[in-house]
Amino acid sequence: MATDLAAAAAILGDPNSYANEHRLHEACAMLRRDSPVHWAEPEWAYPFWAITKHADVQEVERNHEIFRNSPRSVLTRKEMDDLREQQGEYIRSLVHMDNPDHKVYRAIGADWFNPRAMRKLQLRVDELAANYVDRMAELGGKCDFVADVAVHYPLYVILSLLGLPESDFPRMLQLTQELFGGADPDRRRGESQADLMAPLMDFFNYFNELTRARRQSPTDDLASAIANAAPGGEYLSDLDAASYYVIVATAGHDTTSSSIAGGLHALLTHPEQLAKLRAEPALLPTAVEEMIRWVTPVKSFMRTAVEDYSLRDVRIHAGESVLLSYPSANRDEDVFEDPFTFDIARNPNRHLAFGTGVHYCLGAALARMEARSLFAALLPRLRDIELAGEPRQVVTTFVGGLKYLPIRYQLN
Ligand code: HEM
Repeated sequence: MATDLAAAAAILGDPNSYANEHRLHEACAMLRRDSPVHWAEPEWAYPFWAITKHADVQEVERNHEIFRNSPRSVLTRKEMDDLREQQGEYIRSLVHMDNPDHKVYRAIGADWFNPRAMRKLQLRVDELAANYVDRMAELGGKCDFVADVAVHYPLYVILSLLGLPESDFPRMLQLTQELFGGADPDRRRGESQADLMAPLMDFFNYFNELTRARRQSPTDDLASAIANAAPGGEYLSDLDAASYYVIVATAGHDTTSSSIAGGLHALLTHPEQLAKLRAEPALLPTAVEEMIRWVTPVKSFMRTAVEDYSLRDVRIHAGESVLLSYPSANRDEDVFEDPFTFDIARNPNRHLAFGTGVHYCLGAALARMEARSLFAALLPRLRDIELAGEPRQVVTTFVGGLKYLPIRYQLN
């Protein structure tokens, strides 16, 4: 248990905490109450201000000219920050950029995620969702919902949108999990700097090839849009194009699969909510929103102040970084009634799981659609479902959720 604020801040900055939600939320609640803008000094990463209140996360994100994504948008190990200092950016995606570049680069992909594009995709997503429920039926009443369903389905959707061949999907899955799972011994290749960089290098080699292929013969997919974009009259550099694919491919599936798996887990551990949803399928949109709030698969992003700024009564100096804690913001008692109650009818639900402001998640509509389609396909076919073992969470401070969810079920 966190006995003081320093211990609570250490918990917030410790990747292991995210595999033990009770401990994490207890620490966040203490910080929100007693020190919502708190200086934290983890051993493995450079220090930051921990921002734990919903209103403050919003304030920082909306002040994007003062709180910049560059040079430190994600909490990483000191060695990785040092490497960036010495050698420059090794990835430059939307989440690493600020205006004016961010606005220009975001526009390249934006049309692929707007409501019109989503309507075009709906039938295909519904079809895929139905296929994965069929797959559950074929598995004979028992599966690991994460490994057998939740990780494949969103990956399939996003890689199809990008236009990658199906034969490459397993490789993309492994690389994403290694990239996001650098803190998890089950997922990373090793602990050295080279081991941590290796998945990114593999991604880049693969995507540089893709850029060349799509410039030679463009097709009707997002990869071609990225490869052939020429803002200011010039193609994107290899680094910028590859970073774009990496952010879409990675942000587009681990997050959604965590929401779906965590959402099912929440229904299994709150059987009255599962019964309610089955009785009232019209609640699916609010239920999905609540699942995303409950799971909050993106644990944090960072910003760095370019000038001094006072948040509450705390002076944040130019050059200091802040860590935006989304799980904490999404349990903030000032915004959510009974924040620790899983309520599929919660409305309004002003969660910040997709962030806010100019970096607001590009794929939010897609993620919502995927989750709705899967539960719309699964729930009417369920006769019975229960946990078949102890679920396990990923060790991370960035993107995570369940990595193992054993279930037993009967389907119609
Ligand atoms: C950015 C969450 C699904 C693509 C973000 C951010 C968050 C987030 C918190 C940063 C927002 C900020 O800084 O204010 C989530 C969650 C998802 C999800 C919780 C699923 C439940 C997706 C999907 C895609 C996607 C399906 C599809 C491509 C992106 C991209 C960005 C982003 C490209 C960068 C946007 C920018 O910096 O302008 N997401 N995301 N995400 N997300 Fe998602």
